[in-house]
Amino acid sequence: MSKQRIVVLTGAGISAESGISTFRDSGGLWEKHDIMDVATPQAFERDPALVIEFYNQRRKQLYEVEPNEAHYALVELEKYYDVRIITQNVDDLHERAGSTQVMHLHGELKKVRSTADEQLVYTLDGWELRLGDTCEKGSQLRPHIVWFGEPVDMIPLAAELSSTADVFVIIGTSLNVYPAAGLVDYVRPGTPVYLIDPGPMQVSHIPRLTLIREKAGTGTKKLLKELMP
Ligand code: OAD
Repeated sequence: MSKQRIVVLTGAGISAESGISTFRDSGGLWEKHDIMDVATPQAFERDPALVIEFYNQRRKQLYEVEPNEAHYALVELEKYYDVRIITQNVDDLHERAGSTQVMHLHGELKKVRSTADEQLVYTLDGWELRLGDTCEKGSQLRPHIVWFGEPVDMIPLAAELSSTADVFVIIGTSLNVYPAAGLVDYVRPGTPVYLIDPGPMQVSHIPRLTLIREKAGTGTKKLLKELMP
C-alpha cells in the first residue's frame, strides 16, 4: 500500500532552536533591520552593498548552525509517510537533517543568481558574495531570495501539493506573509491540520485544527508520537 502523504509548511520557528533568529518575534530580524532597506528589489537597486552584506551575514551564520530535533523528527516521519516539506526558510537545515522532499518558497541562502537572467542560479562557494561577482554573462550576482514585492514562483506547485495532503502540518510560522500563509486554504475539506508554535496565533479560520502550543523540538516529537502508525 502506498504511504499517506503529509505536507508540512515550515517557517523560521523550526530553525529557532538551531540558533537562527525568527523575523517577527521580539528581538527578531525585522526589529533590527528595516525590510525596505534589505529585502526588496528597490533596496538592492539603491544600495546593493548593504543588501549583499545582510545576506552574507545570514549565510555566514548558516555555516555555524546545525539542524535541531524538529528537523530530524520530520526525517523520521519519512519512514511511515510520504513527507513533503514546503518551507519559507532560506536555510538548508531540512536538507542537512536528511529530508528528501523540500520545496523552498522564498529562495535559498546558499544560492545566488544573475541579475540579468533569473534562470542562471549558482550555488555559492563559501559564505561571501561580493559586489563585482558576476554571472557567466557578466552581470552582477544577487542573493537567490524572493524579496518583498517579487512573485513567489513556487506557489502554484505548493498549492497543488497542499491539495494532495492526507495530513497538513504547520510549524513555526506567524502566518503573516502571503501567499505562503494561504496554502492551508488549499487543503481538502476534512483533512486534519496540526499547528506547532509556542506563540499566540490567529487560527480560528483553520478547520480540523489540533494546536500544539510548544516549541518545534518538543512539539514535533509529540506529533511524531501521535502520527506513528
Ligand atoms: P516569523 O518571524 O514571522 O514567525 C516565526 C514564528 O515562529 C512565530 O509564530 C513564533 O511564535 C514561532 N516560533 C518562535 N520560536 C519558536 C520555536 N522554538 N519553535 C517553534 N516556533 C517558534 O517567521 P515566518 O512566519 O517564517 O520572508 O516569516 C515568513 C517570511 O517572512 C519569511 O520567510 C521571510 C520573512 O520576511 C522573506 O524574507 C522573503
